[in-house]
Amino acid sequence: MPAEQSVGNVKQLLEQLFNKSLNATVPNQPDLIPSIASCTGNFGDYQCNNAMGLFGKIKGTMPEFRNPRSVGEAIMRNLPETEMIESCSVAGPGFVNVVLSRTWLAKRIQKMLTEGIETWAPKLSINRAIVDFSSPNIAKELHVGHLRSTIIGDTVAKILEFSGVEVLRRNHVGDWGTQFGKLIEFLFEHFPRWVDENDIPIEDLQAFYKESEKRSADDAIFKEKAQKAVVLLQGGEPKYLKAWSQICEISRREFQNVYERLGVHIEEKGESFYNPYIPSVLEGLNNEGLITESKGAQVIKIEGKRIPLIVVKRDGGFNYDTTDLAALWYRLNEEKADWIIYVTDAGQREHFEMVFHAAKQAGWLPRENNEYPKVTHVGFGLVLGEDGKRFCTRSSEVVRLVDLLDEAKNRSKHALIQRGKDSEWTEEELDQTAEAVGYGAVKFFDLRDNRNTNYTFNFDQMLQDKGKTAVYLLYSHARICSIIRKSGKNIEELKKGGVLALDHADERTLGLHLLQFSEIVEEACTNLLPNVICEYLYGLSEDFTQFYTNCKVNGSAEETSRLLLCEATATVMRKCFELLGITAVYKL
Ligand code: ARG
Repeated sequence: MPAEQSVGNVKQLLEQLFNKSLNATVPNQPDLIPSIASCTGNFGDYQCNNAMGLFGKIKGTMPEFRNPRSVGEAIMRNLPETEMIESCSVAGPGFVNVVLSRTWLAKRIQKMLTEGIETWAPKLSINRAIVDFSSPNIAKELHVGHLRSTIIGDTVAKILEFSGVEVLRRNHVGDWGTQFGKLIEFLFEHFPRWVDENDIPIEDLQAFYKESEKRSADDAIFKEKAQKAVVLLQGGEPKYLKAWSQICEISRREFQNVYERLGVHIEEKGESFYNPYIPSVLEGLNNEGLITESKGAQVIKIEGKRIPLIVVKRDGGFNYDTTDLAALWYRLNEEKADWIIYVTDAGQREHFEMVFHAAKQAGWLPRENNEYPKVTHVGFGLVLGEDGKRFCTRSSEVVRLVDLLDEAKNRSKHALIQRGKDSEWTEEELDQTAEAVGYGAVKFFDLRDNRNTNYTFNFDQMLQDKGKTAVYLLYSHARICSIIRKSGKNIEELKKGGVLALDHADERTLGLHLLQFSEIVEEACTNLLPNVICEYLYGLSEDFTQFYTNCKVNGSAEETSRLLLCEATATVMRKCFELLGITAVYKL
């Protein structure tokens, strides 16, 4: 009996087996990479797709192979003995179809139940990643784009963390721009003693900022003062620094409010943090010969781009480009990140392409994209209003984000009350469930489609209890929990003593789907696509419904096994919810 491989997900295990088979089939092609995919047709669970391409390579050199199909047949014959596979067949021009063994599938699931879902976590080959997300600008508009960045970034961080990567969650807040000159000068003008007295109401920073912009456009003297204020601030003048830090503190409190609601953990390292590193970073870039002068500014020209990166403005100031270069340098050299991920709207793609390109030219990053350290821009589409235009607001955006969450919660609470839950549950239960469902609905709606597509914000759609919504999925989970509760059995005892089998076709389908969880998370990590997990979760829920429709659980002869399958499904669903930043509910 050959030693059974057990490390890795199903696909990786099959890759290991087919690797052996390919080596035996064509020993003179040692570098072949097994191409394994899950089956789309009904012939098997997975398939190996190497035969056709391989035949093209070896044509003429190995006369025993007359066509691709004969290569496929040999690959199948040469597969090592394994308890993992029940049967194999060759289809068409040499696809090797694999049917996995039910007993093996059942054993893997049972093992997960006793050892924990963490044993199904993919193992990525990197140690540390930085996810730069949310990153609103102080005193400027905090728009839904930042909400998207917060939701997507949090999930990206979570799937990497689950996969064994240390993640530094970075809030790259815009706390160092020219907006401060105008704002501070404006506030000094209107509230001369504001810095020293705490009771002056400057909470509505955005309104002040808008006024200060107007003032600066209308009044040349003010404009000049504002420009001087930036210089004073950046030069470390105490009064200006104090004003700046108070402004930042006000914004920080507002942002924190949103993060707490969303249950998002993030650490602020704003633009200002990197300021001290700018001179030496520029010196380094200059030594590499990357910086040239253009119209009084210092720039880095990027091949194929219309505009260069501006690293020192004509007035001597630094800007967004400069800070991002300094931050990238810091993240690579001080924080030693293997993978740096930037989550912003698709509109900033070009900015990041240019920054990454410069970093490659400077030798900070390897030229090949598949080598580490690596940088990736995770872009996303717009959130649209019902009118098809950018989703926007009348009043202050920060408040509105909170309002949005409030409304989602209120609506879901209302729906729960309509279903009579207020008489069944305590006020606290009602509230917590409404929150989980409401916030979950907003998040899931944001994550469920490929992030690059735009979507229309619509409460009715996101709160529907059918289709691809958090509500439907949370219901499915709660239903499974209720089946287990109603059995009256102690599931922990069953996990220890019971045996799980997958004899019914629908049990087998569900079981296979459960085992694919690990591959799915890995795929989501590789392409940084949370929607892959959403689709998986939805599919899982459908497979469960199919199983539950055709297989009696409580009171059946297979009760123990089926309860274990229910528990495994609920466990995987909960992990998916967690990765998506959604709080699971146990009754609904
Ligand atoms: N503050 C920027 C904005 O609101 C996003 C910052 C993204 N991160 C970065 N390192 N540039 O558009």
